[in-house]
Amino acid sequence: MRRAIFPGSFDPLTNGHLDIVERSIDLFDEIIIGVLNNPDKHPMFSPEERCEMIDEVFEGFDSKGCKLVVESFQGLLVDYVKSRNGTAILRGIRAVSDYEYELRMALMNRRLEPEIETVFLMAAEEYSYVSSRLVKQVFTLGGRVEGLIPDLVEEKMREKLNS
Ligand SMILES: Nc1ncnc2c1ncn2[C@@H]1O[C@H](COP(=O)(O)OP(=O)(O)OP(=O)(O)O)[C@@H](O)[C@H]1O
Ligand SMILES: [Mg+2]
Repeated sequence: MRRAIFPGSFDPLTNGHLDIVERSIDLFDEIIIGVLNNPDKHPMFSPEERCEMIDEVFEGFDSKGCKLVVESFQGLLVDYVKSRNGTAILRGIRAVSDYEYELRMALMNRRLEPEIETVFLMAAEEYSYVSSRLVKQVFTLGGRVEGLIPDLVEEKMREKLNS
């Protein structure tokens, strides 16, 4: 059973995240999208809102036999992965800046749990500059983010800003 955990803040989910999941469904039997509960980062959406949004975005998505699970977690990532019997941590790499951070995390996680492998996918060219933070910044200032995030996520961001 190849079960990958795709951890992140997903505040909110972008098309870059979606692309990583879509390209991973042939590699794993199950992918758990682990939404980090990180109140100190002052997220735009609560972990519950983020999970709900991701569930909705994947509704009707054909994952070709790969089971998709969405849930939130907190604490040490490798502990969470172990508790879910995960075999791999799935991460995306956009630029050299991601690489440096990801390398440190992967090496630390390997030291903590040598049997858990970190698997990296290179970002799609068209989303390689897209981050949740940048999307939030641009959207909050009234810029166009169409095509960078799912329509549903844009709606939820609009609701959030108007509330
Ligand atoms: N556009 C993208 N293409 C490929 N991978 C991505 C993309 N955006 C994020 N990822 C990857 O998804 C995982 C979770 O990332 P995370 O939730 O931190 O997203 P983020 O966009 O970097 O958010 P933030 O801007 O808040 O840091 C990480 O491995 C990250 O490298
Ligand atoms: Mg990030």
